[in-house]
Amino acid sequence: MAQLWGGRFTKETEKNVYDFNASIRFDKRLFHQDIEGSIAHVAMLAKQGILTEDERKSITEGLEGIRQDVDGGKLEISEEYEDIHSFVEAVLTQRIGEAGKKLHTGRSRNDQVALDMRLYTRKRVMETEKLLIELLEVILVTMAQNVETYMPGFTHLQKAQPTTLAHHYGAYFEMFKRDQQRMRDIYVRMNYCPLGAGALAGTTYPLDREYTAELLGFQGPTLNSMDSVSDRDYLIEFMAALSTVMMHLSRFSEEIIIWNSNEYQFVEIDDAYSTGSSIMPQKKNPDIAELVRGKTGRVYGALMSLLTTMKGLPLAYNKDMQEDKEVAFDAMDTVTDCLTLFTGMLRTMKFKEQRMAESAMNGFTNATDAADYLVGKGVPFRDAHGIIGRLVLYCIEKNTAIDKLSLEELKGISDKFEEDIFDAVSLKTCVEKRLTTGAPGPEVMWVTIVRCVDYLNDLLDNFGLDKFKPEEYNIDESALARVRLADGK
Ligand code: ARG
Repeated sequence: MAQLWGGRFTKETEKNVYDFNASIRFDKRLFHQDIEGSIAHVAMLAKQGILTEDERKSITEGLEGIRQDVDGGKLEISEEYEDIHSFVEAVLTQRIGEAGKKLHTGRSRNDQVALDMRLYTRKRVMETEKLLIELLEVILVTMAQNVETYMPGFTHLQKAQPTTLAHHYGAYFEMFKRDQQRMRDIYVRMNYCPLGAGALAGTTYPLDREYTAELLGFQGPTLNSMDSVSDRDYLIEFMAALSTVMMHLSRFSEEIIIWNSNEYQFVEIDDAYSTGSSIMPQKKNPDIAELVRGKTGRVYGALMSLLTTMKGLPLAYNKDMQEDKEVAFDAMDTVTDCLTLFTGMLRTMKFKEQRMAESAMNGFTNATDAADYLVGKGVPFRDAHGIIGRLVLYCIEKNTAIDKLSLEELKGISDKFEEDIFDAVSLKTCVEKRLTTGAPGPEVMWVTIVRCVDYLNDLLDNFGLDKFKPEEYNIDESALARVRLADGK
């Protein structure tokens, strides 16, 4: 048992009490943030004349040495200590003596842990944004390669109207784009430094909180010391955003599982991303998609857990808040793994274009277009709807499709049908005519794709990453150029 307090106690802590209270088992993950925060704190203390320059130097070198030794495997973070803060301070004092005991001047573990957790979360928010950008890029490549890959669009999981793979993937581009924007929002809102809040009411030392905030890359210091030590909103926001990422991944996974089923056979998941069965030799299972779908539950759980932990807590710090870490870390790790694996699975997944197009042709996905054809011949839409309904029934009885009927059969149902009906209800026409903004018609789809390319390039630029390179993929660059020309670029 190694703890930072004990002066006012007359009895030793019970061993099981100590263990129950200790957090080092999981907060050792904050080691780097703890060192970084302490180095900034000490730099500020010296600038303010609270520590001497010699003390600053000795403490800073001591902390850097500890960091080096832990990273290099020469020093193990011992779980003997109560928490990571106690470990660092104790080792520092063993190493540099008296000066080490001055590290905690004008600081409490309450603002220290608030800082560590914020620094750590800020890093994970940024990493998550980057993973989302990688996913967006993979989705965009598939979009740009499949503007004329036809497939059925569904409602109620029933074939509804024909669409394209580019259009279907485009829906996920929008979802993950919003997820990426949420990361950006959280980052901006959380980027204020709680260090210097002390235990709850600031300190009597003349700390320069603006300076520490600047050293640690924050926008500025937080403005209320009680809130600073007891705020975990940013974590809750992050958990909510991660839950939404998982909800999107889970929907996408579900579709891939369906598309990969024997009945659909729209896709083939790469061998590297599938697993077999121990008993059924023919099996190739979509386990990654299933696991991603399944892991959604634990991320939602983390959100619910944090909300419940924070509910009803009086100001300011309460030990309940130590419970923020395990669930939040687990959710962060889970989403990192899910995004990484899911992106890899998408990148290597193959589409069976022929199957998809055939599926779009069966199942009367052109029924709306057939009704629209009659509207074009002067039939009111409601009547056209009824006529095509009867036509569909006729086809079902004869086990055929609208575009397979003869003109005579069609005329038997309505004399408005002419030879041009066959072109009007062909799969190609049905898709090509859907030209409203956001629809699958190739002409507007390419406009959407160019908007997505521009959006992605801004993000990549922001992260100092290479721009999206259409020439590296099998993409119709002339289509992109046509849109740019029309844009006047
Ligand atoms: N391990 C604690 C936590 O994670 C650190 C803060 C402890 N502060 C205190 N006054 N006991 O919240």
